[in-house]
Amino acid sequence: MAEKFKIQGGETLKGEVSIGGAKNAVLKLLAATILVKGKTKIYNVPRLTDVDIMLNVLSDLGASYIYDKEEKSVEVDASNITSITAKYELVSKMRASFIILGALMSRCKEAIVALPGGCAIGERRVDFHIKGLEALGAKIKIENGYVHAKASKLTGTDIYLDIPSVGATENLMLAAILADGATRIQNAAQEPEIVDLANFLNTIGADVTGAGTSEILINGVKPSDLHSAEYTTIPDRIEAGTFMAAVVATKGKAILKNVYPAHLTFFNDKLIKMGANIKLVEPTTIEVSCRNRLTSINFVTQPYPGFPTDLQAIAMTLLTTANGVGIITESLYENRFMQVPDLRRMGADIHQDRNHAIIKGVKNLTGATVAASDLRAGAALVIAGLMANGETIVEKLHHIDRGYEEFEYKLQKLGAKIYRYDDNEGAEFNQIKAPEKGVINESRI
Ligand code: EPU
Repeated sequence: MAEKFKIQGGETLKGEVSIGGAKNAVLKLLAATILVKGKTKIYNVPRLTDVDIMLNVLSDLGASYIYDKEEKSVEVDASNITSITAKYELVSKMRASFIILGALMSRCKEAIVALPGGCAIGERRVDFHIKGLEALGAKIKIENGYVHAKASKLTGTDIYLDIPSVGATENLMLAAILADGATRIQNAAQEPEIVDLANFLNTIGADVTGAGTSEILINGVKPSDLHSAEYTTIPDRIEAGTFMAAVVATKGKAILKNVYPAHLTFFNDKLIKMGANIKLVEPTTIEVSCRNRLTSINFVTQPYPGFPTDLQAIAMTLLTTANGVGIITESLYENRFMQVPDLRRMGADIHQDRNHAIIKGVKNLTGATVAASDLRAGAALVIAGLMANGETIVEKLHHIDRGYEEFEYKLQKLGAKIYRYDDNEGAEFNQIKAPEKGVINESRI
């Protein structure tokens, strides 16, 4: 399939949109369900290809699941785990599946998980995950592209992370849940998704404190302490930021529901400095609007609570037509400016020097054919298309479908002229249909 978006730029976005569950939280909660020898149900699960991949990882391990479209829930039954292998075909498609390593170590004391390797945005090593597991007592061999970890028992210890890696913090939290004694993760990542995972783990009977700070304490519990539970994941702060940017980019005004504003403090602050208005309507509802040309700002991406790298490309799109010069420093990934050549093709004036980008605001962008190089760069190009004069075609939508549920449908509801079509089906521009109603249980997606 060669699906593409066709975007007619220049529409002002108005109306209301509801933000879905956090991809980067749900993926880890799904991995954590295998700690329970029974059923766990997670609500607010977005229908994304990355979620499908994690469900397939669980299914390969012997767990079963029911995805309920109407409820947006997944019930996992991990009563029987029959395999300890997460194969290359799945891990290579989605790095987040590497998180199953920690969960399998807790449950089975042995795991064989494909090494994820690098990806387009950077090298993305897993050395902290490995060193942390070794500190907990696992013996690790890396053979034929797989990590084979094994332990007769895991023992709680102090682990210091050189940088606050989200994935390493999560993998080690999962591995330490049933360890003997206490594990302290220092310089832990503080992202809301870490807090969500800790809350979920405590809901199923684990003992995790300090999540959301730089020091997380996990007191090991017994397997019999873990039990079935139901849990609702947090809203996706990056999806929320993306829609906020889309509204601001088109000088629109919209209500965003199911948002935790506290998770977006840094981004909100920068949007306001650029000239946007953000009003809290209710605790989880905000109104975003913008009337005038934005003003350029500078920012550096940082681990939470700093400016999120996952909104860097999207913010760059806003700077392309802002008044003045903005400087972005990307401090997390070596190669996260892949949107730059395509934004330039749309008329942006961007100078890039290693991890710095200098964006001189132009009057307007013009439509062009561009291609998503990764999930967030793809979303940034869609927003550029909404801003641009004329028509933009965005190719390689599989990147965008990894992390945005019904992206074009939600944008259409706000008045955007964006349609998905498949080149192989005669280039017919079809308006996407509203998602189906009614309960559909899918046992295997
Ligand atoms: N790093 C190492 N060694 C390690 C682990 C990380 O050197 O063992 C480095 C990485 O190479 C990277 C930096 O540390 O340069 C940060 O990586 P981190 O481990 O924090 O990121 P992650 O867990 O792989 C998650 C999100 C990313 C998001 C980052 C940073 C998920 C599934 N992914 O990745 O989200 O950019 O945290 O906030 O949670 C996205 O959603 O588009 C996305 C890429």
